[in-house]
Amino acid sequence: MPASVPIYMDNHATTRVDPRVVEAMFPYFTEQYGNAGSIGHAFGEAAREAVEQSRTVIASAIGAEPEEIVFTSGATESNNLAIRGVAERPKRRGDHLVSVQTEHKAVLDPLARLARRGYDVTLLEVEPHGSSRAGWLDRQRVADVLRDDTALVSVMLANNEIGVLQPIAEIAAICRERGVTFHCDATQAVGKLPVDVRTLGVDLMSFTAHKMYGPKGIGALYVRRTRPAVRLEAQITGGGQQDGLRSGTLNVAGIVGFAAALQLCTLELPAEIERLAKLRDRLWQLLRSRIDGAELCGPNLTGQAATGGPLRLPGNLDVAFGNVDGEALLLAMGNLAVSSGAACSSTDPSPSHVLLALGLTEDLARSTLRFGLGRFNTIAEVEAAAETVAAAVARLRELR
Ligand SMILES: Cc1ncc(COP(=O)(O)O)c(C=O)c1O
Repeated sequence: MPASVPIYMDNHATTRVDPRVVEAMFPYFTEQYGNAGSIGHAFGEAAREAVEQSRTVIASAIGAEPEEIVFTSGATESNNLAIRGVAERPKRRGDHLVSVQTEHKAVLDPLARLARRGYDVTLLEVEPHGSSRAGWLDRQRVADVLRDDTALVSVMLANNEIGVLQPIAEIAAICRERGVTFHCDATQAVGKLPVDVRTLGVDLMSFTAHKMYGPKGIGALYVRRTRPAVRLEAQITGGGQQDGLRSGTLNVAGIVGFAAALQLCTLELPAEIERLAKLRDRLWQLLRSRIDGAELCGPNLTGQAATGGPLRLPGNLDVAFGNVDGEALLLAMGNLAVSSGAACSSTDPSPSHVLLALGLTEDLARSTLRFGLGRFNTIAEVEAAAETVAAAVARLRELR
């Protein structure tokens, strides 16, 4: 039966804004609506103060200094600023750029454009489907391709489809030893796991508010300012805001919401990690017991990294059902909102490049669903979702 009450389990795509975040933002639309760049009146002063306070909160949540936070419109822009900002510096180490086949398009597309302009881009492979660490990147693969002209390595912390967590601290250490700037797209991890830029040793790190119960249209790039300071070529120029690194009037209400959202996530983190992992494990248990041939995509749910931490985001589950089309499945499930490996975006009809990079066939990739559990999901929703998916798969298989 299609779900009758809407159930939202697409929290990797975006999250509902927490009402506490909306409340924190509200005065910055209606009362304190000044431009943070305005000098000489109280409206500008109040906006500037709110921005700087928020910058401090966000920086401290990730172990950075306030001046290391550059606000952007989201992680897509942060990734572009990091990658093109390093690659287009007139004084750079060279034109070799390294990343991974399973990165988000917001990393792969800027790299592809640079490749068309003559840069040499290496995209690394990951552990294949079926392995207990499917999707994981062995740091040795990075070490093996670094060259004297490598300007940048970019590896994501948590994958947005299969939830695999990469060994960022180990990879960053290799890059540092070889003098290569290291960027991490931590969009799916910040707010969901403890993330500390100093412990990880990253030089640049992207993240965004709308994946952590904050508003859309506001993100940040962490830019290391010491030992060594990272220099970037600005990508958006104009009024010279944020030290000229990213011009444009600051989104004050968005920035306040971003800080409130991250603060809440940080407070609730330990309990939420445990709760989401339990919900996720229960969902998998129900799906595999009810649906013949259900296969887990990505690393084992109980897998451990060498450092003892988990190998997978707590709220992530990606399942290939086989013998069914993911898009038809989405339609058959009515009000259950998840996403399908059939079309990774509404503008691109091809199957997920992440699943293909893991070695899934096109048919198997097209039969997958990604579940992203979040703050507002309950055990009752998990049980209803499993029932809805099982019924829809059975019905579609019968029609085949
Ligand atoms: C890993 C990853 N990087 C980047 C982005 C882009 O983020 P934004 O929507 O803030 O531009 C996303 C969002 O889907 C993501 O999951």
